[in-house]
Amino acid sequence: MNQSLTANHLDVGVGTGFYLEHCTFPATEVRLGLLDLNANSLEVTAKRASRYTPEVYQADILQPLPEQSQKFDSVSLNYLLHCLPGNLETKATLFDHLAPWLNPGATISGSTILQAGVPRSFVAKRLMHVYNQKQIFSNVSDNLDALQSQLSSRYTDVELEVIGCVALFRAHSNPH
Ligand SMILES: C[S@@+](CC[C@H](N)C(=O)[O-])C[C@H]1O[C@@H](n2cnc3c(N)ncnc32)[C@H](O)[C@@H]1O
Repeated sequence: MNQSLTANHLDVGVGTGFYLEHCTFPATEVRLGLLDLNANSLEVTAKRASRYTPEVYQADILQPLPEQSQKFDSVSLNYLLHCLPGNLETKATLFDHLAPWLNPGATISGSTILQAGVPRSFVAKRLMHVYNQKQIFSNVSDNLDALQSQLSSRYTDVELEVIGCVALFRAHSNPH
């Protein structure tokens, strides 16, 4: 994850801020944006990352975002896509919503748990079934090909790595 961070970074779907606490930014002066739908997640993460004096944005990434005059050089979306409703085609609108917040050539990175196109153990299948039933996950139709296609249709240098049923992705927005 560290290789995908810049000193002008936005994290979307912050959760409890675990990764931000443990990651290393490439500079001591860091501009950090936190974006999440949930006010509690933002509050906990903003406290945890208080050394960066983060900018906090409460917003739904599935809707167009308000204007942003100071754009970011990198954005992370860790363990977010498999929680969002819909399929990867509809979820991927979030990349379009992020576009006006990103500088040309920005790094987009993230991770998500997939149902298809990745190896799934018996336990993973059972757990995913239960989590989807309980609406903790929403990834019944998420597959590796769809993720690759949504990223490739928007970005350059798309890299995907599969570890178990988790896909890690990295790409760059158009440089111009
Ligand atoms: C599983 S957590 C990810 C936590 C963190 N990124 C990590 O890797 O540990 C998912 C986060 O996405 C947020 N989220 C869910 N739907 C969202 C939406 N539509 N817009 C913005 N954030 C959303 C949740 O509030 C939660 O903080």
